Amino acid sequence: NREAPDILSPEFMADPYAAYRVMRDDFPLLHHEPTQSYLVSRYEDVERAFKDPAFTTDNYDWQLEPVHGRTILQMSGREHSVRRALVAPAFRGVPLQETFQPVIDRNARELIDGFRDVGRADLVADFATRFPVNVIVDMLGLDRGDYDRFHRWYTAIIGFLGNLSQDPEVAAAGLRTQQEFAAYMLPIIQERRANPGDDLLSTLCTAEIDGTAMSDEDIKAFCSLLLAAGGETTDKAISSVMHNLLRHPEQLAAVRADRSLIERAFAETLRYTPPVHMIMRQPAEDVEIGGGKVPAGATVTCLIGAAGRDERRYANPDTFDIFRDDLKTTTAFSAAADHLAFALGRHFCVGALLAKAEVEAGIGQLLDALPDAAIEAGHTPREQGVFTRGLDALPVTFTPVA
Ligand code: HEM
Repeated sequence: NREAPDILSPEFMADPYAAYRVMRDDFPLLHHEPTQSYLVSRYEDVERAFKDPAFTTDNYDWQLEPVHGRTILQMSGREHSVRRALVAPAFRGVPLQETFQPVIDRNARELIDGFRDVGRADLVADFATRFPVNVIVDMLGLDRGDYDRFHRWYTAIIGFLGNLSQDPEVAAAGLRTQQEFAAYMLPIIQERRANPGDDLLSTLCTAEIDGTAMSDEDIKAFCSLLLAAGGETTDKAISSVMHNLLRHPEQLAAVRADRSLIERAFAETLRYTPPVHMIMRQPAEDVEIGGGKVPAGATVTCLIGAAGRDERRYANPDTFDIFRDDLKTTTAFSAAADHLAFALGRHFCVGALLAKAEVEAGIGQLLDALPDAAIEAGHTPREQGVFTRGLDALPVTFTPVA
């Protein structure tokens, strides 16, 4: 009889995948006292909690309210769908391909130009944490001169959201950022209402919902969510794709030879080492899941990181293999995805195709610019984080471009 793993223990932080296996096998529904939640770890249970409308996101407020305000993640029904529909078109189809793809390409190039002649870079600090934040700043039509400021705010917000140990300084920095961000955004929102342009912020400022414009506070909250949700996830995905490829030289060589395989490397990374490991849901009524009962109103923690390694769903789940045939890329970016890294159902990641465009541009340009990049000798990259998880650093060396 194995002991139930604790998601807040140092062993879990060091290697959650071993603990996930124990949970899937022996504790498919595990009540976790410290977080007062029920953990589900099997693919079919996580999928069910995302898809079944009996599970809501009503319990997000305590976590997101203090740092963002009220966002679409906390909403449901029509309140959610009409607001989500305001931004969704920008993140797919023609606007993504024609308006934003050049912005994505340019931002990747500018960051890589900053280090390609140096021969060494930390792909986390110098590239991945900056690239998606810069893209969001540009999509919102904000000042490119303020990239550093947004990067600082972004770092404080995700620090606040991941502050499991309740470090008071991290909490204070997050709350301070919320005030600074509001002081910065609110005058711009008013200005944009009066003089709208063709950017995403203007879309939010001029939209009417049942004849009424969104409040300044709601728009600011939306921007704050886009910065955090679009930043942290893509940031972690890019460094993980690079790391997974650098650790698997044959697959790296295949991707170098055929760039269309980046899509597969991305999908497989989302299964194998997803940026978001845990998502909360709340059943509106008593439910049965994972072979047990969860009372109405309780928190269910859906372990995306565990679902991606479920041997009931994937062959050889602990092997990174971009050519696996149980992860079809044709469906990987629709609501019928073959992995759960973007969730499913009404909160399915609205930025999934933007993320894909960013990862394809970012990885493609890194492979072009650093043809012989290798992990710096003596460095062992480490993942950290519990709710979201990614590398703390990815130092690489390469032949500098003259
Ligand atoms: C929702 C993952 C990129 C914006 C979500 C959710 C997940 C997720 C798991 C569901 C959250 C929940 O149900 O509680 C990811 C991953 C990404 C990524 C793994 C990159 C690899 C992006 C990007 C953007 C974005 C680039 C846009 C800027 C959002 C928003 C929501 C969301 C606004 C809330 C949707 C709603 O409530 O309807 N994402 N995301 N994400 N994502 Fe992403």
